[in-house]
Amino acid sequence: MIYRYSGHSGVQLPVLSLGLWHNFGDVDCFDESVRMILKAFDSGICHFDLANNYGPPPGSAETNFGRIFHGYLESHRDEVFISSKAGHRMWEGVYGDGCSRKNIIASCDQSLRRTGLEYFDVFYCHRYDGVTPVEESMQALIDIVRQGKALYVGISKFPPEQQLQAYELLREAHVPCLLSQYRCSLFDRKAQRSNFHLAADAGSGIVCFSPLAQGLLTGKYDGGIPSGSRAAKESGFLKVSQVTEGRVEAARQLGEVARRRGQTLAQMALAWVLNDERVTSVILGTSSARQLESNINALANLSFSEEELQEINTIVADEALSF
Ligand SMILES: NC(=O)c1ccc[n+]([C@@H]2O[C@H](COP(=O)([O-])OP(=O)(O)OC[C@H]3O[C@@H](n4cnc5c(N)ncnc54)[C@H](OP(=O)(O)O)[C@@H]3O)[C@@H](O)[C@H]2O)c1
Repeated sequence: MIYRYSGHSGVQLPVLSLGLWHNFGDVDCFDESVRMILKAFDSGICHFDLANNYGPPPGSAETNFGRIFHGYLESHRDEVFISSKAGHRMWEGVYGDGCSRKNIIASCDQSLRRTGLEYFDVFYCHRYDGVTPVEESMQALIDIVRQGKALYVGISKFPPEQQLQAYELLREAHVPCLLSQYRCSLFDRKAQRSNFHLAADAGSGIVCFSPLAQGLLTGKYDGGIPSGSRAAKESGFLKVSQVTEGRVEAARQLGEVARRRGQTLAQMALAWVLNDERVTSVILGTSSARQLESNINALANLSFSEEELQEINTIVADEALSF
């Protein structure tokens, strides 16, 4: 495994992390979840990314992670880095959604109970909700650290203005923002343009999610929607309407470039995100240990020639690919 420092901190993270948004809920195969987490840990992927609402049902990914962690990895607590988040709808009523202090503090306590952990390594505000003052959300994160419930804090998907505000407030409180999470893939380069330089200037590490555009950047949708794939699943966030001809064709062309590099498309897509040295880690989502193993092999070739980058840029230039 390769590790990078997270921004201006002393924390190193593996360049590949494992996320539990899909595939770790009660609707999924528990034994496969165990295999993926152990495969990750044994491969040096010591960073696991959770959120209160991951499942389905919401909360079940944290509960299942807790079962697996306490069953197999408890004695390795100081070798793993575990994150969780609050800010998206989690429970019914006005306090179960958004980034108020009320929601963030209660949510962190619930997540600790579900996972059975004493603390999270990093706790994130999952989004800017458009209403709650950034001061309120950041003060909740600062207090979570002061209470010993998390070691570090992070923000996710904050637009540039609120992102800068968050960094400033956290810096003033001496709880600097360790990580900023943004979606980034060959099909979505918006954060690279709008948010990464702000994070880098503020000394925050950058973690990228959905690096394979939820599976579109694997070539698996070449011949339609395979059964068992994320787009085919009722609980999957990838909608059939997002599997457009344009994206499938672009993936096919990218697959040609990957083949010439001796990689799968997924491996090349992961390497491409990591080619930006501001990125601390890319969060993998996998539905099997086999996928995980294959994706880890992306590390065998992380460098790109200028010609390859130009060819890739030409294929993904159409903004309609972005979603
Ligand atoms: N901060 C946020 O708001 C936010 C939002 C979204 C995600 N995240 C984090 O980022 C993590 C990753 O996101 P993501 O799951 O969307 O990542 P992704 O890498 O874009 O998509 C993962 C999916 O692609 C397919 N796949 C992966 N490797 C494959 C391979 N080698 N061959 C064939 N198919 C493959 C699998 O879907 P199939 O089911 O089709 O096999 C897998 O579940 C999440 O778990 C979460 O921790 C954070």
